[in-house]
Amino acid sequence: MRTVETIDYERPWLYQRQREAIFHAERYGLIEASTKSGKTWGCIVWLLEQAMGGRRGTAYWWIAPSYQQAEIAFRRLKGKLPRRLCQPNEARLTIALGNGAVVWFKSGERPDGLYGEDVHAAVIDEASRLREEAWHAVRTTLTATQGPVRIIGNVKGRRNWFYALARRAEAGEPGMRYAKLIAADAIAAGVLDAAEVEDARRALPEAVFRELYLAEPSDDGGNPFGLAAIAECVTDGVSGTPPACWGWDLAKSQDWTVGVALDLEGRVCRFERWQAPWQETIEGVRAATGDAPALVDATGVGDPVVEALQRGGGGNFEGFKFTAQSKQQLMEGLAVAIQRQEVRFPEGMIRVELEQFEYEYSRTGVRYAAPEGAHDDCVCALALAWRKAAEVQPGAGVLGWMMQQLAGQQKQQVPDPLPWRTARLGRRDDPVPASGVETDIYAEARRKLGLNPEHVCVRCGGRIGASRVTDGVQSWHPECR
Ligand SMILES: Nc1ncnc2c1ncn2[C@@H]1O[C@H](COP(=O)(O)OP(=O)(O)O)[C@@H](O)[C@H]1O
Ligand SMILES: [Mg+2]
Repeated sequence: MRTVETIDYERPWLYQRQREAIFHAERYGLIEASTKSGKTWGCIVWLLEQAMGGRRGTAYWWIAPSYQQAEIAFRRLKGKLPRRLCQPNEARLTIALGNGAVVWFKSGERPDGLYGEDVHAAVIDEASRLREEAWHAVRTTLTATQGPVRIIGNVKGRRNWFYALARRAEAGEPGMRYAKLIAADAIAAGVLDAAEVEDARRALPEAVFRELYLAEPSDDGGNPFGLAAIAECVTDGVSGTPPACWGWDLAKSQDWTVGVALDLEGRVCRFERWQAPWQETIEGVRAATGDAPALVDATGVGDPVVEALQRGGGGNFEGFKFTAQSKQQLMEGLAVAIQRQEVRFPEGMIRVELEQFEYEYSRTGVRYAAPEGAHDDCVCALALAWRKAAEVQPGAGVLGWMMQQLAGQQKQQVPDPLPWRTARLGRRDDPVPASGVETDIYAEARRKLGLNPEHVCVRCGGRIGASRVTDGVQSWHPECR
């Protein structure tokens, strides 16, 4: 005789938009969503319900970008199910339900391992971080069963399969449903804290925030600096001005030692890149840096190198240890500087690496790095130099910006006909703005930058060398008349 046990199941509460995004009759569900909007949790519930309707021996798959993330989802489901109703297997990351259906938690890292089985329903979590091959593999496992799938994730640029598939779903392709959950939905539902989102908005580069919390893909393919902003910071060549500070990224296994120096105006004025044995590297760094303040990568083997640099009076060398968190802060500082055009660099390797640079978002924060096979030593050196510049000259960026603004204002204020004529006519305008605070900041900016009034061209705002035209108060480049 067979005993049949009936189990009462009540679906955990899901907020309306979360429920509607995930629970529907279409076979393919594409959900682009804010981080922490409840997409993982909602889909865990969905997959469980699919499996509860399954037969003995049928398979249900949860696919995450890494084993670790698959394991987190496994624990979340396991933690919600009473032990007498399921059999979890820690080693294989499976949960067998009372009806004999099995939920598998898998990593998409090796797509080859995803072929072969008949799967009755699947979830692909963090789809924008999963290779397209993994999606192809999962789809073949669903073919024989005609099983449904939910594909969920943050948006990440526009050049990935998740983005492309979401656009097809959004266009209303038969069998597909598209949904978007943004931070505001989760806040309204009480699942996400508004203050946390506000903190994120302040701390993250804008493009990053838009992707993570508003589900708006950037045009930059996940570049945290912004391609347009990078282009704005490019100057002609390395400026010949003296270094105000250095940043050094030291070669680890196969990459390069890179040194970047910035001048007082945040322009790259020296650039060094080599591969050499440590002793030569130490001597090279010391020779290039001289006694300018320098921030040096002290991660791993960098630590003894920094100690060696500091020995014998190298008090200008400071070590910087890269951790996920410290690198995040360092890169966010650089991103803000680039977006404000406070830092400038020449065409070439620095620009190329900045353009290739990517961010990835995980539970622990934003991870900034070069894509596989590319380098980021120039980006790191530049970011270290910028950090040092901000320390050596706090507010230098702001003052530089003020300088630009004021130079722009002066340019506008220069009346036409030419000032010496207007001077004769008694109409010469005061070159500094009237506000006392602004005047002070302006004067301070010029003092810090080592400028005196005669040395700024009132027409183009650039610095003027020995040959200049002046009326005693204002000066011009001869060619700017
Ligand atoms: N419907 C819900 N009710 C209560 N808490 C929820 C709900 N949906 C999500 N959460 C909680 O919100 C947090 C983020 O959910 P998660 O599914 O991990 O988000 P995402 O995968 O979108 O980043 C988790 O702590 C989760 O338990
Ligand atoms: Mg998630």
